[in-house]
Amino acid sequence: MMMSRTLRIALTLSAAAILAGCSSSAATTAPVVTAPPVVTAPPVVTAPPSAAAKVFTLKDLTVGFIQTGSESGWRAANTASFKETAATEGVTLKFYDAQNKLENQVSAFHTFVQDPSVNVIILAALDVTGYDTVLAEAKAAKKLVVLEDRRIDADSSMYYTYIGSDFINEGHEGAKAMCDLLTAAKVTKKNVVEISGAVGASAGIDRAKGFRENMGACGITVTATQTGNWGVPESKAVMEAFLKQSKDIQGVFAHNDEEAIGAIQAIKEAGLVPGKDIQVVGFDATADGFKYLISGEMGADIECNPLLAPQVFDAAVKGLNGDTTVPKWIPSQEGQFFAAQGAPALNDILKTRKY
Ligand code: AHR
Repeated sequence: MMMSRTLRIALTLSAAAILAGCSSSAATTAPVVTAPPVVTAPPVVTAPPSAAAKVFTLKDLTVGFIQTGSESGWRAANTASFKETAATEGVTLKFYDAQNKLENQVSAFHTFVQDPSVNVIILAALDVTGYDTVLAEAKAAKKLVVLEDRRIDADSSMYYTYIGSDFINEGHEGAKAMCDLLTAAKVTKKNVVEISGAVGASAGIDRAKGFRENMGACGITVTATQTGNWGVPESKAVMEAFLKQSKDIQGVFAHNDEEAIGAIQAIKEAGLVPGKDIQVVGFDATADGFKYLISGEMGADIECNPLLAPQVFDAAVKGLNGDTTVPKWIPSQEGQFFAAQGAPALNDILKTRKY
């Protein structure tokens, strides 16, 4: 069937219009810009901030303190120094009195090594030997060990530091003082008897050594030696025995004040005058010792400082903080006192002393 010319034109225009409309619609529609998928970064897993190294202070110390016992005025002052300083500075102190028995010290040491709250063990050693096993235990358990008052015969790697006297130097000073006293007394002989400290204690061993190192130059001879175990009654008995054995004694080298006082009592009871007939040298310079210096019955008292706790606790803090600069021995600074200084001067000094 033939399409009219008009109809064909109409159909053609319609088709063109439809096509044009389609293309126009495509050109004006905004492209759909799909946002790129959000790629979230994997969480950064940072290592937990390394805990800053703890800085220890005195208040962090839990100290197991193994004391020798309570044999002398010096020891009482040493114990008081630890108890009082701990209370003032906030140190937790677990105090053990070994009653002058080595086996008690070893067993207390073992207990403190096992005690998880104790981070520092302080030892005032009765003897120079006997601690190897417990020192090894402490090292394995990473407990800090500080020696106070007395040295021991152990490798220095087994403890952090030792704070105490130079007992050999004290012996040197004792011999020098005895020499001066005997010289001033114008004696023709220089026979000296020795009342020594407890057997095995470094204080006694080293004072004896130091005295002997210096006495020869003065012509002193040690004619008898016996322990007085740091005590008055035992030392008095020792001196009584010496006086029975010989009338030819010009001096007494007593290793502490109590031993010197025991010797003075025995000399007086024997009808002799201490400080005139027999010269007496003691060690420690406690208030009791000072009384006998002031009376002139003790000619010289060589100081031994018992007030060690502040230094010992400070060193322990350094040890816990890993300080490797602390020396293996910190010797105490000490002096000497003489009856020749006179009662007024000695009384003034005594007023300022703490033990
Ligand atoms: O180790 C010090 C000595 O021990 C003192 O001289 C003595 O008195 C003490 O007991």
